[in-house]
Amino acid sequence: MTKTVNNRQPDADIAPLFTERWSTRAFSSEPLTGEEIKKLFEAARWAPSSGNSQPWMVLYETDGPDREVFNSILRPGNQKWATGVPLLGFFFAKNKRADGSPLSTSQFDTGSAWMSLALQATMMGLYAHAMAGIDKDAAYERLGVSPDEYTVICAFVAGHRGDPTDLEEDLQAREVPNNRDPVGQHATRGVSR
Ligand SMILES: Cc1cc2nc3c(=O)[nH]c(=O)nc-3n(C[C@H](O)[C@H](O)[C@H](O)COP(=O)(O)O)c2cc1C
Repeated sequence: MTKTVNNRQPDADIAPLFTERWSTRAFSSEPLTGEEIKKLFEAARWAPSSGNSQPWMVLYETDGPDREVFNSILRPGNQKWATGVPLLGFFFAKNKRADGSPLSTSQFDTGSAWMSLALQATMMGLYAHAMAGIDKDAAYERLGVSPDEYTVICAFVAGHRGDPTDLEEDLQAREVPNNRDPVGQHATRGVSR
């Protein structure tokens, strides 16, 4: 069976990558190199999408002049731990094709791009953590994105793991990879009964 590197034990022999990826909140302040950042977005680039429409858009900042604006869009619960993480970005999904027809799977496709990025981070010994806890109106307004053109999906951070004891106590208690429902609860053979 799959060798576990944390408390997670899969029920089938899958690549360890899937259980090794988890959403820590304990990040170090060590910056990501340009090459590391390039690899994260390159992985996202190769995600599948309906008709190869590639309908995702990421706006990100590291320690540049826009970082405070990016930080300000996070809900306070996420600001507590995410504002100092070296890379903070926002995933957007495009709403329509050039001819105005809806891109009906663009949010699903954008999820694929996020997962590719997250798994690439894991393979590099890095961590990525998605956040739906954002002020969506502020995301459009402060990042200069039209809600007619794009739907904001979530924010995310990426970086190196830090010291969990630097987190507030309630967050320290959550620094354990969580478990999953049994697979049969989400995937069943045959029609729904
Ligand atoms: C779209 C999305 C939104 C999330 N929003 C938040 C969030 O706002 N704050 C947070 O701390 N974690 C957030 N998470 C992390 C989830 O809680 C986490 O992925 C889930 O508990 C499974 O744990 P794991 O990622 O460690 O496997 C989010 C994850 C996803 C995919």
